[in-house]
Amino acid sequence: MHIHGATALVTGANRGFGRHLTEELLRRGAKVYATARRPELVDIPGARVLPLDITDQDSIDAVSRTAADVDLLINNGASTAVASLMNGDRAAIGQMIDTHFFGTLDMIRAFAPVLARNGGGAILNVLSLTAWTSVEANTALAAAKSAQWGLTNGVRLELAGQGTLVSALVPGLIGTATLREAMKDTGLTFSAEVMNDPAALARLALDGVEAGEVEILDSLGAEAKAALAGPPRTFDLAAVATR
Ligand SMILES: NC(=O)c1ccc[n+]([C@@H]2O[C@H](COP(=O)([O-])OP(=O)(O)OC[C@H]3O[C@@H](n4cnc5c(N)ncnc54)[C@H](OP(=O)(O)O)[C@@H]3O)[C@@H](O)[C@H]2O)c1
Repeated sequence: MHIHGATALVTGANRGFGRHLTEELLRRGAKVYATARRPELVDIPGARVLPLDITDQDSIDAVSRTAADVDLLINNGASTAVASLMNGDRAAIGQMIDTHFFGTLDMIRAFAPVLARNGGGAILNVLSLTAWTSVEANTALAAAKSAQWGLTNGVRLELAGQGTLVSALVPGLIGTATLREAMKDTGLTFSAEVMNDPAALARLALDGVEAGEVEILDSLGAEAKAALAGPPRTFDLAAVATR
């Protein structure tokens, strides 16, 4: 997959990591559909802006018809709420499953024929190491990310026949405004060693897609993957903050 000359679609492009992915794609010479629930918030020169809510099938169908030349689908946008499975708001937990799992799945189901018509192409799902290790502060997110990992592996199998690369980006911490706000609430701070600069992570992600990697890991993601052979672990944010 060559990013230069590709046609990409990014969900949740109005802010956070999605914005950085969009900018890096444009820098590398891709045509980019930058999608957002509130498209008026996307102000990235050169991006083609489309409205998209990944929990709304009509919205997904409209975008898949308009963006019929896509050969790189990036599923980034999702609920970044915080909830515990036992005591958290049930609606917030539902939103996480609806976006991380069903939103990603519905986007892939809508775009699989588009990718097939355009030569196979690639899908990049933005996961999290919490797919592999729960996190006390947000057990619901971890469950949703685990489900999204399973779905990523499943669609990889099902789309192999049409030549679609299905990659997972599995990072630990991304220094977006959302994470920085959460850090303020917890009082934790993280060094640059463990908290990804979003622009640098966007470069790592697209390098991985260009290299055909199925799992693209940062250092904390690689640690979590290596620990999978042992007993289930939690992502200890307080310990990471001391590094
Ligand atoms: N930040 C981290 O430390 C971290 C670590 C690992 C993985 N990740 C993953 O990286 C991705 C981006 O995270 P981030 O920190 O950049 O988050 P963010 O800044 O909170 O942005 C989330 C984006 O998702 C969009 N979104 C939410 N629900 C949506 C829906 N129903 N339809 C379409 N778009 C929707 C939001 O749109 P609105 O502006 O309309 O709300 C926003 O653009 C997420 O998948 C997250 O799980 C983040």
